Amino acid sequence: MVYLNGHFIAKNKASISVMDRGFLFGDGVYEVIPVYQGKIFRLTEHLQRLQNSLDSIQITNPYTSKKWKEILTKLNHFSSESDQSLYLQITRGADTQRKHNFDILTPTVYIEANPLIAKTKSQLEVGFSAITRKDIRWHRCDIKSTSLLANILYAQEAKQHQVEEVILSRNNEITEGATSNVFILKDNTLFTHPTGPNILSGITRDLVISSAKACKLQLQKTPFSLKDIQHADGLWISSSTREIMPITLLDGQPINQGKIHPAWSCMYNHYQQLKND
Ligand code: PDD
Repeated sequence: MVYLNGHFIAKNKASISVMDRGFLFGDGVYEVIPVYQGKIFRLTEHLQRLQNSLDSIQITNPYTSKKWKEILTKLNHFSSESDQSLYLQITRGADTQRKHNFDILTPTVYIEANPLIAKTKSQLEVGFSAITRKDIRWHRCDIKSTSLLANILYAQEAKQHQVEEVILSRNNEITEGATSNVFILKDNTLFTHPTGPNILSGITRDLVISSAKACKLQLQKTPFSLKDIQHADGLWISSSTREIMPITLLDGQPINQGKIHPAWSCMYNHYQQLKND
């Protein structure tokens, strides 16, 4: 079952107009929200970020937070899986003709739920590989836009290179991953790029930041370079679907001699606790 514009219907029965601006222009925004043991994780934060994205592109939020919760909970109940990821997208809607500028339209709302199979600690402890590339995206990466051409090209490169993620840099500063936020650990300080137009402010990133103290780590929201990564004690990526993943090989070179710093284990445990709260 999926949700489309007020109706819960079978996925193969869901269709939209060819005039939908999401289809024609990628004119829309989205969220990916995890559900753990049937409970929607950090819904308030995701709905706030959705609101920010909608405001940035001048789409009026079609629903109140209460209504969003109702719809998401109902969709969630159609599945027997206790852990899921909810994908929701809102496009500007369908016009009568294709034109770049827009009038006020009725937004199209689409939501689907997919099983979420988080990696176990021992699967994560193996460590993952990444490559680096120049960040060629636009300067409003804070908007969770469905226009993801650059990101999908990076994801395809990751697939071709058989690596987990592509880590991006702009003017010699690491911004984020193609589909994740990035942290480095150096001398018990966690560094991550500050929020602003060059990164998506990840909900998982915020949880890592708020857990730093519990893992006896200092935190600095300051940019770092590729060189800093090469000398780091740890490199992690974070996202709602991947949680917190240690990267041990970057562009074929080991980080911290390929060893995972104990602070990652602390952060992992802390995150699992938050999921169970
Ligand atoms: N992506 N940065 C980018 C570019 C992302 O696409 C994502 C997540 C994040 C992490 O955000 P969060 O912690 O809120 O998931 C950062 C989702 C999972 C996706 O596009 O499927």
